Amino acid sequence: MESITGTNPTDIDHLWWQTGIIYQIYPRSFQDTNGDGIGDLKGVVQRLDYLQWLGIDCVWLSPIYPSPMADFGYDISDYQGIHPLFGTMEDFDELLEQVHSRGMKLILDLVPNHTSDQHPWFLESRSSRDNPKRDWYIWHDAGENGALPNNWLSVFGGHAWEWDETTQQYYYHAFLKQQPDLNWRNPEVQQAMMDVMHFWLKKGVDGFRVDVMWHMIKDARLRNNPVAANTPFVASDLIYEYHDPVYSTDQPEVHEIVRMMRQVTNEYDERVLIGEIYLPIHKLVTYYGADKSGAHLPFNFQLLTLPWDSQQIARAIDEYEGALPADGWPNWVLGNHDQPRVASRVGRSQARVAAMLLLTLRGTPTIYYGDEICMRDVPIPQDEVVDPQGLNMPDRNVSRDPSRTPMQWDPDTNAGFTDSKPWLRLPYSYQRQNVALQKEDPDSMLSFYRSLINLRKRQPAFQTGKFTPVYSDKQLIAFIRENDEDRFLVVLNLSHRPAYLRPKNETYKGEIIISTETERIGLRVDNNLLLSGDEGLIVRLER
Ligand code: NOJ
Repeated sequence: MESITGTNPTDIDHLWWQTGIIYQIYPRSFQDTNGDGIGDLKGVVQRLDYLQWLGIDCVWLSPIYPSPMADFGYDISDYQGIHPLFGTMEDFDELLEQVHSRGMKLILDLVPNHTSDQHPWFLESRSSRDNPKRDWYIWHDAGENGALPNNWLSVFGGHAWEWDETTQQYYYHAFLKQQPDLNWRNPEVQQAMMDVMHFWLKKGVDGFRVDVMWHMIKDARLRNNPVAANTPFVASDLIYEYHDPVYSTDQPEVHEIVRMMRQVTNEYDERVLIGEIYLPIHKLVTYYGADKSGAHLPFNFQLLTLPWDSQQIARAIDEYEGALPADGWPNWVLGNHDQPRVASRVGRSQARVAAMLLLTLRGTPTIYYGDEICMRDVPIPQDEVVDPQGLNMPDRNVSRDPSRTPMQWDPDTNAGFTDSKPWLRLPYSYQRQNVALQKEDPDSMLSFYRSLINLRKRQPAFQTGKFTPVYSDKQLIAFIRENDEDRFLVVLNLSHRPAYLRPKNETYKGEIIISTETERIGLRVDNNLLLSGDEGLIVRLER
């Protein structure tokens, strides 16, 4: 068995955001220290030792800025402050220092597509038609008989246009009406947001995850979106997914904005620009920009959005690897605060296979807090739902609350998250499913994650080595990761039934170094491999 201790080999050819592992914290739910039932920055500081123990290289914080919290912080009313719920700017500075003193990095969420309707920019903009900030947002006259400017829908349900009585025009909001979209065609808006970026970069933050990057510019003529193919479209339903948002998102001009943002990050050493982008692979990769002028990492959500099917996933991996620009660094995401948790999507036993896939593929992995202890979506009674997406569309079961519940630290009251009532309830099972117990259990999900993370950190073949797909069928995905020194075979059974790997022209001989079936670790493999249902394993191959 490989030992799980060891140093992280430094790699001079690659940067930290290529070799490292990113961990997303949803600050409301990580650790409360002031007894209000909501997590805070001091709480994150308190748990940094845990993240270091786990082997995390970079923490991404969901928004911590002043906000009316209509969308839990994604409606920002001051881009350069800290919401008192989370603490003070001193707390933030302390957090940044503590992260850096552990050799880790900190990245912030930047939400440039829209502000809160309480942001001073919008208050000014809506005050009169001739206010200098009027053109900072997207205003439009009504059509005949008060008609909407076009058919665009809000992601959170309903029309995307809100009527303003005072100035007798509509404004556009891709999300809530409390989140008016900025007009990124206006150079003053561009400059204001670049100033925000400089403010945080000067403080020393290591980069940004840019919210809804592909939404930032809309069609100049505001043309109607067409109906999407293969949907049970009914015009009166006002369901976002029934339209194909070809005119409200992913406009060619967005790349110029991304380029500006990249130039700002380039003025500082080794900062990273990550884009949140839900698009098919061939469009996603355009966000790398020509000649490294775009995002360093356009988030790749294939593992979140595809059905958990070995052939579809194997195809997506191939397509992605093939579509990347020559100097584009890959990345993979398994969970985030907008999607059901991986253990609820694919089941507990497959969640281990998913973890192995995430941490062995080529490219930067992003882990969502709590996935490492196999947290599942927590059932939230209807009258406790707080997510606006869930509240606006109560019949569709699309609330994001279930995947945003407090971190389960230990078996004590409220799982060690808070002394008072948590803002979202915990599952009944937290006394069994928590960090403290799993730390002691060599067969736990946490121990499994930690050994995969350690392997990745110790073995450059996984961080920066070559990726070669070798096999896939209705059950299995198998690939090789290698560099000049080491060669590893990864075999994943995405089904619950036993499966055979029968290589045709290759022979695979070596030793199993990690398996979901811990009993197999250390055993030798001689070509034909038989896997249990839900098994994933890594073989160190003889050269
Ligand atoms: C994407 C964020 O991840 C999500 O949580 C938010 O609701 C929307 N953008 C709107 O900002």
